[in-house]
Amino acid sequence: MTAPDDARPDDARPDDPRPGARSIATQGVDEMGGPTSILARQRADHARLDRLMDRARATEAAGGRAHAVALRAVARLVFTHAFAEEAVLFPAARRVLPEGDDITLDIERDHQRVDELVTRLDRSNSDDPGHAELLRETFAVLDEDVRTEEDVLLPRLQDALGHAELRRLGWEWELVRRVSPTRAHPVVSRRPPGQPLSALPLTVLDRGRDLLQRVDERTGGRAAPVVAVVDRALAVTAGAVERLPPVRRGERPETSR
Ligand SMILES: [Fe+2]
Ligand SMILES: [Fe+2]
Repeated sequence: MTAPDDARPDDARPDDPRPGARSIATQGVDEMGGPTSILARQRADHARLDRLMDRARATEAAGGRAHAVALRAVARLVFTHAFAEEAVLFPAARRVLPEGDDITLDIERDHQRVDELVTRLDRSNSDDPGHAELLRETFAVLDEDVRTEEDVLLPRLQDALGHAELRRLGWEWELVRRVSPTRAHPVVSRRPPGQPLSALPLTVLDRGRDLLQRVDERTGGRAAPVVAVVDRALAVTAGAVERLPPVRRGERPETSR
């Protein structure tokens, strides 16, 4: 998820109709509107994701708990980050950019793909045949998602909005990220009105499962049978919530499942 080797400050994508729009990968923090702007926050979170993916790759051969914990950390960052993008950043892009619908739909397709891949990864062990390939594919889609955001969406938003507005979006995105669901939900809508409607029930259920996981880790697996039963019940409830018609409203056919 690093910047392309040949990225230079004056580079623009060949298909970019505005030569001024350039990747945020190589910009200074002040240029992006300061550390609280949506651009700087996104780039910092993408860098954190890079480090977490490295840790997941490093623990893959050994497998076991260390790899499971590393994967959970990736998933937690990815799903809260993406949920807040879909709730705050993409609707803003669609409001101010004429091409906002196409660009955000492209990214939503990547988000959908990640949801489906992680759902499969969650069901696999590191020594399962196919786990390595699933991991490689998931991380490749995540890399692609970041490139589209840093090279296409965010520079165009930067062209359209002032620093104050970029900072306001940054705060809003950060707040929503902190109360977003932490797990894959491939069925729920990626757009309003269903997407924000799903936030409260899915966040409560996901974070309840995260809490159980921490209890399991701290008790060294002694509470595992009870944890497994409660975790299963919460997962089934989340699956049922995802399928409720109100939280599927607004979904585009391109990302529906
Ligand atoms: Fe992002
Ligand atoms: Fe994203």
